[in-house]
Amino acid sequence: MIRGIRTRLALALLAVVAGALVVAWATVVPSLENRLVKAKLDQLQRDAVPVAVNLPDRVFWQEYVEQTEFLVNARIVVYDLLTAEPPALTVAADSRTGSSRDVERDITAQIAASTGRTQRGTTRRNDKRVAEVAIPLDPAGPIVLFISPLSDSLATVRLVERRLLGAGGLALLVALVLGYLGASFHAHRIRRLERAAERIAGGSFDEPVVDGGSDELGELASAFDRMRERLAQLDTARKEFIANASHELRTPLFSLGGFLELMTDEDLDEETRTEFVTTMREQVDRLTKLATDLLDLSRVDAGRLHLEQETVDLGAVARDLLDEMRALAERRGHPLRELLEPETIGLGDELRVLQVGRSLLGNALVHTPAGTPVTVRVGHRDGSSFLAVEDEGPGVPPEHAPHVFERFYRIEGDLASGSGLGLAIARELADLMGGRMELETRPGRTVFRLVLAAASPADQGAPAPAES
Ligand SMILES: Nc1ncnc2c1ncn2[C@@H]1O[C@H](COP(=O)(O)OP(=O)(O)OP(=O)(O)O)[C@@H](O)[C@H]1O
Ligand SMILES: [Mg+2]
Repeated sequence: MIRGIRTRLALALLAVVAGALVVAWATVVPSLENRLVKAKLDQLQRDAVPVAVNLPDRVFWQEYVEQTEFLVNARIVVYDLLTAEPPALTVAADSRTGSSRDVERDITAQIAASTGRTQRGTTRRNDKRVAEVAIPLDPAGPIVLFISPLSDSLATVRLVERRLLGAGGLALLVALVLGYLGASFHAHRIRRLERAAERIAGGSFDEPVVDGGSDELGELASAFDRMRERLAQLDTARKEFIANASHELRTPLFSLGGFLELMTDEDLDEETRTEFVTTMREQVDRLTKLATDLLDLSRVDAGRLHLEQETVDLGAVARDLLDEMRALAERRGHPLRELLEPETIGLGDELRVLQVGRSLLGNALVHTPAGTPVTVRVGHRDGSSFLAVEDEGPGVPPEHAPHVFERFYRIEGDLASGSGLGLAIARELADLMGGRMELETRPGRTVFRLVLAAASPADQGAPAPAES
């Protein structure tokens, strides 16, 4: 295939050069020939007229033409006009001594005789092209014909032709070699790209795709390299995800296995057994939540998580949320507050908004010291509607803040350890609803905010307006 490119490019160049040559030949050679022949005829006519006009008496004709031949550098023939109509000519003198047979029926002389005007033209004599000028002297008088070889003029044309051919041949050769070399160079680059693509297809993303060129192939190589980097990232993310997920699944499973073993002990008193069952229930809950979260994330990744885009009364969602979590807040000793701006309507999926709220409020209850108040706030800001959870805990340290929305990200030393998926899912859901997650944090005040496009209360119940 590469060989194909090389040969094809070389042949294409060859064809272009050959075409250019033919065009050059066709425009130069015939017109040059015409000009040179015309120049020769002009010259012959200029020289011939004085010689013809000074033709002496008939008896001196032969002597005169023999003597003046060298002046005009042409064979001179004088004809007698026997009859004018049709013109009948007979040779009366010829500067070329010997046979005058070849000029007896000369067409140029005959036309001059019948028209009575000077006639010029070219013809072939003894296989050579010659220029001819025929001058009739009087209406019924003699015709003087001048014949001069065109070989000099035509030699120039032939020379130009030969040069053109030589230069053309050279150009063809150069085109062939250059075409082949150029194609080889590109073929080499293409093959390098092909190898890189095969490497990437084989799953090795370490070696960068390099090509120094700034042309289309260079751009293709950079595009390949960007693709390689992206694939490498995705590959790493995938491996990390699987490793993290299996690790997260293993911990509660091990613990469950351990407790099951302990439960087989016959001497276990009822109180310890109840305690074990409670712990096992917690582990099962944790596994169930993990499985649900992983399922959500894999649905997001596969693009199969379908979210409604409808008007959501954020105040109502916040009240449901508070009712749901009040028991946990009491258990943890957190006073719960609510600040709900009336008629706060956002665009999104009600169940998913509740899910995000659950995750945020859950975090505020478990990742902060007992006794600190937690506020759920709903309101408008800059043309958007939001649902926020604010706490008075120690906050997220600045070096961790940019990462808390990443999958499986947990802050080391945090005693309440979850799986680190809650905020990652919250962000994915916010994106899918066309909104975003925001975080403001400092010791003593941390706000996690779900921001959604605002809708007016009048829209509620009506289908959602198209996203702008
Ligand atoms: N309100 C908060 N105050 C302080 N730290 C927080 C707060 N919310 C989250 N974090 C930190 O961010 C980390 C990530 O939160 P995320 O909700 O994603 O995971 P998680 O709560 O640990 O586990 P999961 O929610 O999956 O059960 C938490 O582990 C915690 O360290
Ligand atoms: Mg959480």
